Amino acid sequence: MAFDKNFLWGGATAANQYEGGYLDGGKGLSTSDVLTAGAHDKRRRVTWKNPTTGETGSTSFDFLKSQRVVPEGTVPAVLSDEYYPSHVATDFYHHYKEDIGLMAEMGFKAFRLSINWARIFPNGDDAEPNEEGLAFYDHVFDECQKHGIEPLVTLSHYETPLALAINYNGWASRRLIDFFVKYATTVMTRYKGKVKYWLTFNEINVMEMAPFMGGGVIASSPEIKAQAAHNQFVASAKVVKAAHEIDPAMKVGQMLAYGPLYAYTADPADQLLVMKQMQSSMFYADVQTGGHYPQYRIKKYEREDIKLDDTPEDYELLEKYSADFLSFSCYGSNVVTTHKDVGEAAGNFMTGVKNPYLKTNAWGWTIDPDVLRLALNTLYDRYHKPLWIVENGIGWDDQISADGKIHDSYRIEYLQQNLNSMRDAVTIDGVDLMGYTMWGCIDLVSAGTGEMKKRYGFVYVDRDDNGNGTLDRTPKDSFYWYKKVIASNGEDLTDSLNAESVAAK
Ligand code: BG6
Repeated sequence: MAFDKNFLWGGATAANQYEGGYLDGGKGLSTSDVLTAGAHDKRRRVTWKNPTTGETGSTSFDFLKSQRVVPEGTVPAVLSDEYYPSHVATDFYHHYKEDIGLMAEMGFKAFRLSINWARIFPNGDDAEPNEEGLAFYDHVFDECQKHGIEPLVTLSHYETPLALAINYNGWASRRLIDFFVKYATTVMTRYKGKVKYWLTFNEINVMEMAPFMGGGVIASSPEIKAQAAHNQFVASAKVVKAAHEIDPAMKVGQMLAYGPLYAYTADPADQLLVMKQMQSSMFYADVQTGGHYPQYRIKKYEREDIKLDDTPEDYELLEKYSADFLSFSCYGSNVVTTHKDVGEAAGNFMTGVKNPYLKTNAWGWTIDPDVLRLALNTLYDRYHKPLWIVENGIGWDDQISADGKIHDSYRIEYLQQNLNSMRDAVTIDGVDLMGYTMWGCIDLVSAGTGEMKKRYGFVYVDRDDNGNGTLDRTPKDSFYWYKKVIASNGEDLTDSLNAESVAAK
């Protein structure tokens, strides 16, 4: 048997892309609620208002580029004449019973979701939590428990309460550490016995490229980003400590955006570039999972005259309360080179050049059959801690066929290759892997583009890029395929569909 009998098969989501109900039950605004829709060739925008003059507008949300996400003197705000995909998303808020039922039908052992921080503390720094928000997740976790599904809860998935972004410049302020620890201990105490697995910050290394998304940072600079990352590390360590005190059975993981990076040529200059670019991601895992700041980052801060507002206790906490396990997202690989004119490739946060050996989806994301084996080995060799693939999958503009079904053979093919590669890492290389949760298991809004048509799910949701649709759910072919994979505990990855799916088709 390739996988342990307790292997956690399932799917993953995030509140800002899936939940909707953006003002229901006393929820406050979060940073994602002021992001408009975009497209593959059109950036999402952050909408804003000048509180003094009343002037409104929007700014293109350019990863890596801008120092400020909104102009000086303005604050991010919801405008009445704009469309915001997070506000309804695919409405898990009102469909959670149906959706968890569909997950149970596929045989899910685990369901990754995030708690929307602003549903619990609407402004982030409120004295008391919002009971209606707490009750909502009680219902969700009870539903999971009913079906024997283990929740995996991300505490912050691109959902910093907007008031914290406006009043404190988000995670740039050390004040956020206490607010976050209060929020985390509130939900961990409330859901003790219902939730065992937690993740602190989704793709914590996104701070490097998109600090507003990762940490509600409106005005950034290299020093501010370094501080914001440090504050999140300290907060994570404090949450690990608190979780173990609340319930020794709880496990708190790190969540890293990871994609193997290949050099385009054998030129040593390309290998050095790979090394440097990997360091900018691995730094986040070296601290949060490894427990200490690596020398290459200490030296970089010295060179760039970056000074942190830190204390000696911070470093003791980081070492003593590093993450219990390392989880990561991995969709494909990327290629970089120092050589010019070899064609650009696409991705949300990673950029590079086109890999001549690999195909891509319509958004330019590579389909790499060996990616998970490479990722798992690299991360396991470096940290020797249990791993969990919490995001993997492929975005596709699924079409409904004349028979009313969605025949997503491309998704099945992608998953076959990826799960094969994951299985090799476990059976051939002996990597300790806790689980696999496919990203966007029920269609949801794309984080990078804000589109609905970039779909990942096993279940199709009737909703388009302008907010039209019934929100009805329809299982795709991959739904039945994944059900078979889980039933065989990953032994049967063939594309023959089982009798039930044939009958349903
Ligand atoms: C990860 C994020 O970066 O990639 C998710 O954690 C996101 O929130 C996923 O949805 C896929 O990216 P996209 O842009 O296709 O939604």
